This record gives sequence, structure tokens and C-alpha cells, in this order.
Amino acid sequence: MMQCTDIHDRFLFRLITKKAVLYTEMITTGAILHGDCIKQLKFNSSVEHPVAIQLGGSNPEELSRCTKICSDMGYDEINLNVGCPSNRVQKGLFGACLMQDPQLLSECILAMQESTMLPVTVKCRIGINNEDKYEYLENFVNKIINDKMTTLIIHARVAILNGLSPRQNRQIPPLKYENVYKLKNSFPDLEVVINGGIRNLNECLNHLKEVDGVMLGRAAYDNPMITSNVDSILFNANDSFRSRKEILKIYLEYCLQQNENGHPFSKTLKHIFGMNKGMNNAKKYRRLLLDTIQTNNLKNNIDNLISMV
Ligand SMILES: Cc1cc2nc3c(=O)[nH]c(=O)nc-3n(C[C@H](O)[C@H](O)[C@H](O)COP(=O)(O)O)c2cc1C
Repeated sequence: MMQCTDIHDRFLFRLITKKAVLYTEMITTGAILHGDCIKQLKFNSSVEHPVAIQLGGSNPEELSRCTKICSDMGYDEINLNVGCPSNRVQKGLFGACLMQDPQLLSECILAMQESTMLPVTVKCRIGINNEDKYEYLENFVNKIINDKMTTLIIHARVAILNGLSPRQNRQIPPLKYENVYKLKNSFPDLEVVINGGIRNLNECLNHLKEVDGVMLGRAAYDNPMITSNVDSILFNANDSFRSRKEILKIYLEYCLQQNENGHPFSKTLKHIFGMNKGMNNAKKYRRLLLDTIQTNNLKNNIDNLISMV
């Protein structure tokens, strides 16, 4: 998620769940090939695995080069964004508008697969504009699927390419989970991961009766601790459980250390506004966090913050 799942946020989530796959923000091929590639792609290999990088682009040759770079850097999965409806992305002719050109999309996927041994996955919508019927999705997948494709992640809404902002495109088109379920039925060998509007682990468990995986976006970002039972409930692994206090303490110490390395508190502390969501003093905690960012003084407030969760 852009502006959200950066290297710091992924550090936080790894303190909470060891097993969930974490995804980077979308990084465009242009930013990798013409920008500061190392800065864009840096991840913390000692803690982040399994971690997937999400690429945005529509030029097979450029996607191939970026896939190779990311693969060599040690990511575990390369994901292609075919779901973002923003105007900026549409101007670059990638994101959700690639659903309109399955021929080009297939070429992109093939070029990426040929550049790596890693899984190349695609994150798409159930359709675009008014194409919300199941048949559209099935037809689309039939056009892009190939022997090497293992996994599709599907945001269970259409993307409306004209007239809605990206934010509205995450809220207004209705969720049609049944289209994703049906797809799994039609493609039993394909790993199908469902996304969109999933609020908690109970809902995850319900979806997992129909599909192979679930992806959480906003619910997890806004309230990271809802993922605290992911390892035990979804992966049957109990070894990594830490309390909310322990997690916050480690993360705040990380923020201090990052600050010494030049990363402002605004970039690291912004990820923990939801760390005590729903608790009595959530408002007080958020106010103190904001004050800490503004005054640039975490050392003073660290014990107080920890005591509030
Ligand atoms: C701030 C923000 C940034 C996002 N950035 C991306 C992105 O870079 N790539 C992507 O595939 N989806 C992105 N999304 C969409 C989410 O991944 C997800 O598909 C969508 O929010 C629906 O899932 P949710 O209801 O669990 O949040 C973003 C969503 C938000 C709120």
C-alpha cells in the first residue's frame, strides 16, 4: 500500500506475525530503472521474509529487467499491480487499465516469468467499469493464465476508471466475493487470494473455506494488532507471539535507532497510530504520538507511550 507498507511498517508487522507474506508499496518500473534503484528497493533481509515486491508497469522489457533486479536482491515473490485505478497510473497505461489489454498483460507476465525462478503473481480486480459479471473475470483469467502462473490476488470490486478517485474505488463499487469464489472453482489448481473489505481473522477464516488465501489492507494497517493471531490461527504456529507492549517497545526503540540514522520520526511513528485502537486511552495515545512527532522527542515520551497500550 502506497505511503503505508514501507520498510518501517514491514518491520512493525514482522514483530506481530512471522508467517504472513508482506507486500511492499507499488514501485514503478520507471522509478527502479531511472531513479535511485537501491533506495527504492531496499528491504531488511534479516527480518522481512517472506516479502513480495509489487511492481507497476506495462512494458514487458522493462518489467523483465526490474524482475531480474528484484529477484537478485532476494525478494520472495514478484507481484504485478493490475488493480490500481489512479489517473497517474492510467496515464502510464498500467495498473487496472491493463485488464483492458489482456494480450499486453500476458506478454508482461511472460517476460517477468522468464527473468526469474520466483513466483510472479498478479493483483487485479474482478473487472473494470461496469464489467462486474463473473464471466468477465473468468474470460480475463483464461486470457492471461499460463503454466507457470501459480497465484492470483483479486480485489473483489470492479475498478471504475473514469469518475471515481482511488479512494472511492476502494469503497463505492460493491464487493462481489462470490465472483472470486467461483473463479477458484473454475481454476482449482490456481492459488486464489481474496482481498477487499476483510475486517478480522474470523472473516479470513470464512473466506478460507472458499479460497486459498486472504489479503488484508486497510484493516491491518489501521489496527496492526488484528494480525496478532495470524500465526497461531491461520498457520498453526505459536512460537512468535509477543504482547502489544513488547511489540511497541521494540518498535519504538527501532524508531530511535532509525532516527539516529536520519529517518525522521514522522516516517516511522506514523505507522503506529492504530496500535491501541479500540482501547480506552486510544485518543490520548494518538495525541501523545502526534506530539512526539511534532516535538521530535521520542526519548521523553517512550515510557508513557508504552504504558498506554
Ligand atoms: C493508502 C492505500 C494505498 C494503497 N496502495 C496500493 C498499492 O500500492 N498496490 C495495491 O495493489 N493496492 C494498493 N491499495 C489497495 C489495497 O491493497 C487493497 O486492495 C484495497 O484497499 C482493498 O483491500 P482492504 O479493504 O483490505 O483495504 C492501497 C490502499 C490504500 C488504502
